[in-house]
Order: sequence, then structure tokens, then C-alpha cells
Amino acid sequence: MKVKKAVIPAAGLGTRFLPATKAMAKEMLPIVDKPTIQFIVEEALKSGIEDILIVTGKAKRPIEDHFDANIELETNLKEKGKTELLKLVEETTDVNLHFIRQSHPKGLGHAVLQAKAFVGNEPFVVMLGDDLMEDKVPLTKQLINDYEKTHASTIAVMKVPHEDTSKYGIINPGEQVQPGLYNVKNFVEKPTPEKAPSDLAIIGRYLLTPEIFNVLEVQKPGAGNEIQLTDAIDELNKTQRVFAREFKGQRYDVGDKLGFMKTSIDYGLKHPEVKDGLKDYILELADTFKKEQKIK
Ligand code: G1P
Repeated sequence: MKVKKAVIPAAGLGTRFLPATKAMAKEMLPIVDKPTIQFIVEEALKSGIEDILIVTGKAKRPIEDHFDANIELETNLKEKGKTELLKLVEETTDVNLHFIRQSHPKGLGHAVLQAKAFVGNEPFVVMLGDDLMEDKVPLTKQLINDYEKTHASTIAVMKVPHEDTSKYGIINPGEQVQPGLYNVKNFVEKPTPEKAPSDLAIIGRYLLTPEIFNVLEVQKPGAGNEIQLTDAIDELNKTQRVFAREFKGQRYDVGDKLGFMKTSIDYGLKHPEVKDGLKDYILELADTFKKEQKIK
């Protein structure tokens, strides 16, 4: 069956970005000039996804408005002949987006469970907004390509520093069935480095079969007293095969302050309007830092 649906959980409180996220969804924070959630939606569309459900909490309006037409703005840009800007504004409206509210933030597993009726009996992808991925083939498309061969759930993973395992879901890998595609013995949510079965961490892209909902419906709270998607996947793995695909591209963690700033710089250095000015500024800063070090 073709994978056509994506679920983007966006109900988090965004506490790591307070006060910016007090009245605004963290998914609307821009990297240079584009809200982070638009990068996720673009990855979904490039991967052949046709329908996207965003699971929101409070402050969902700006996300909904962002992907809706803004007639007043469009007319204004048309009148002023600002065709490039008009194109940027219009290209966000051509998406089949659906919204559902997660009234109680009980964890990622619980957020995904809200998508049960939308997904129905089809395989689907879950895309987390804190990770921006870059590769020749979009990561979501890589998972879909795997699914087309195996018809099994496939979770994207990536090597992380050993001391960071407690920030992620970690897999206990079995043998590779193809280069970079692992059988998985089990999944553990946020283990301490001592307990981590590997350094392969779940990185925010999941291709799941609909049977995950049967598991989520009875899933008990796990790490952090939250209903964890990782625990449900571990349970699913006991009744059907679940694979892990190792991602070899570039991952940007925009869910973390420093990661967000690094991403802004990297994307800025590729942005036609600001790249030259930004590069000059970075060189200037580097010069100042070097001089400071010499003085010390
Ligand atoms: C979630 C998942 C975790 C995964 C991570 C990837 O954790 O629970 O398994 O490794 O996303 O970003 P969170 O970052 O929401 O704490």
C-alpha cells in the first residue's frame, strides 16, 4: 500500500524556548525566514506524502494561518509587483493539511494516538519538528523506499555521542539485512549511557504500520511518566518486524537553543540574500576571537 499520510506532532509546550514560546508555537520559530514546521512539510511533500495531520496543543492558530491563503497580503504584493515574495507566500498554501488537538499533553505516544481516525488502516509516517534532515533523498522518502520492499515499520536512527543516549530513544541493533537497514532486538527510551544498548538514536522520522494504534491504546506511561512512542514500537516489534534505517545525511537539532543557532548560521550561509554578509561577519568575529586569545 502506498504511504500517503504524515503525522506531525506539534503539541509540545516549547519550554526550552521560553519566553519566545509563551504565546507562539515553537514550530513557528524561523530559521532565517522560514518557520521550522515548513521545512518538515516540504520534506513530506518531496517524499510523496499527500495528506498531513498536525497534532497541536495551544497556539495552533498561527500554524493553521501560515499554511492558509492570505488574500490581503497577496493582493498587496501583486499590486507592488513583488512577484518573488508573492511566490514564497503562495507556495505554502498548496498542502492538504488537517489539524487535531491533543487536549492533554501525555507524551509523544499519546499525540500519535490522536491520529488514529485520520490514518485508518494504512502505513504512515511520523515526523518530529525538532529535527531538520538534509540528504540527497529526503529521509522520509528513504523510509518509504524501505517500506516498499519490506512492508514493515522502519524507524530512522543515527549515531550520537555515547554520553547523549539519555536524550533519545536508543535501539539494540541486530544484524543488518541490507547496508544501513537493521533488524532491531529492542527499543529503549532515554537510557543512561551505562544502560544504552548502542549509540544508535531515534531521530524523529518513523514509518509505522497502523497496528501501532492497537498498542498505543493500551500503552502505560514510561520514561518521564509519559506515554512513549518508543515503548509502543518496542511492543509492536514483538508481534511484527520493525527495522531501523541508519541516516547518513546531515541532521539539525532545532529543538535545542545552541542547535537552533547553529542551524540558523548554516542555513544563513546558504541563503542567497544574506550568505555574503553573514560570512563576512563570521570572519570578522573569528578575527576578534583570535586577537582576544593572543592578548590572554
Ligand atoms: C523524542 C522521542 C525519542 C527520540 C527523540 C528524537 O524525544 O521520545 O525517542 O529519540 O524525540 O528527537 P523528545 O526529544 O521529545 O524528548
